[in-house]
Amino acid sequence: MARVAGMWWGSAVACALMWSVGVAAGGQPPTQTPRAVAAKMNNPVASNPASIASGQALYGKYCRFCHGATGQGDSPSAPKDMKPSNLTDTTWDRGSSPGEIFTVIQEGAGPEFKMKGLKGKVSDQDTWHLVNYVRSLGGVAK
Ligand code: HEC
Repeated sequence: MARVAGMWWGSAVACALMWSVGVAAGGQPPTQTPRAVAAKMNNPVASNPASIASGQALYGKYCRFCHGATGQGDSPSAPKDMKPSNLTDTTWDRGSSPGEIFTVIQEGAGPEFKMKGLKGKVSDQDTWHLVNYVRSLGGVAK
């Protein structure tokens, strides 16, 4: 674990270095952070009742045992070493836009990644259904 954390810090430092070199060399604005890119992603799947129902079924399979039946992060079966986010409140540490939620589901919830990403397990289409379901829980402006 310490080694992994070290690698993480190492790459963070490397990124910061590349960033400052890039700015000094070209005077170009730095390339966008992954989060900023995620925020601009377009959700290709309309948030209609059918999509939300698909998302709810997927949620029951992949998310409920941590985030709880109603999304409040209070599931008794969640591993004891973690506190899954409440998906019904208005606090979104990783952003509440469709693309940001999509990225958390696919890549996992960093920097600790106790919640692992579902990349390779759940298709993009199904991930967007999950996004539509999560966003229907009441935590974000419609
Ligand atoms: C193993 C338990 C676990 C599973 C399974 C899980 N999560 Fe998470 N989730 C977490 C934890 C832990 C966090 C991060 C909490 C923190 O850092 O404060 C998190 C964070 C999130 C966030 C970010 C919330 C915010 O405030 O920014 C979203 C969105 C999310 N999960 C959605 C999902 C969805 C959708 C699924 C199913 C596809 C899922 N999670 C499956 C444990 C889990």
